[in-house]
Amino acid sequence: MNEFLETAIDAAREAGGMLRSAFDRPKQISYKGEVDIVTEADKRSEALIVARLRRHFPAHAIVAEEGSRGTATAGTYCWHVDPLDGTTNFAHSYPCFAVSIGLAEEGEPILGVVLNPITEEMFTAVRGQGAYLGPRRIHVSPIEKLSTSLVSTGFPTHQRANNRNIFYYWEFTMRSHGVRRDGSAALDLCSVACGRFDGFWEFGLNSWDTAAGVLIVKEAGGTVTDLEGRPYRPGHPSVLATNGHIHREMRDVAAQVTERPLPSLG
Ligand code: IPD
Ligand code: CA
Ligand code: CA
Repeated sequence: MNEFLETAIDAAREAGGMLRSAFDRPKQISYKGEVDIVTEADKRSEALIVARLRRHFPAHAIVAEEGSRGTATAGTYCWHVDPLDGTTNFAHSYPCFAVSIGLAEEGEPILGVVLNPITEEMFTAVRGQGAYLGPRRIHVSPIEKLSTSLVSTGFPTHQRANNRNIFYYWEFTMRSHGVRRDGSAALDLCSVACGRFDGFWEFGLNSWDTAAGVLIVKEAGGTVTDLEGRPYRPGHPSVLATNGHIHREMRDVAAQVTERPLPSLG
């Protein structure tokens, strides 16, 4: 496990250093969808991370957002890599983005590394060994009620017109201290893990967005399920990650919104 963690940390540092330098320079942007941006930096970051993982673990599978795969296509271990989580922020020079590297064994996350290259905050977790921010052990918040919580969510860049999250956003805003929308799911999850946020939910995330972050939340003492309370696996259609105390309440509020007849989104 040490070699897995060291390699993931080295890969995140190398890619994060490159992203940090690229952040101050003009960005080369292209589009994967209507507002689904990809920059040269996403691709360069992915190339660095995947090359290192392939070199160290040729028998491991890799699923990375910009399309790279490992030399193995299946097997016990699979790396889930988001080389730049928060691309829209990066492209607009808004300093909130991350490198996210998760390792799953038979589909179950066992290791997570998330680096914010701007603040240099490095979140790590290994299953059964706790969650860390740098050398410091981290824990979820002790807040017990949604009404005194700060929560967060995100909105996908694909199929925007069909996404009903705005209705959940409105409901949670009225029932909490507020809902933040930071634009990096990996950092949102880490913020739950270290107690900055008390809960986070989102629809339609991919395995590379959450594989590292959900383990970091769990190892920090939090609870992660889907919005209906079923066990969460990376790539599931919805995710709810909380400090545990407000989990039931957030599920109940989400269920009320789900059951409500909502205006058509066209
Ligand atoms: C996005 C971010 C964002 C979330 C989107 C993701 P990307 O990832 O995590 O916070 O709301 O759903 O697609 O495209 O910047 O890697
Ligand atoms: Ca992402
Ligand atoms: Ca990305």
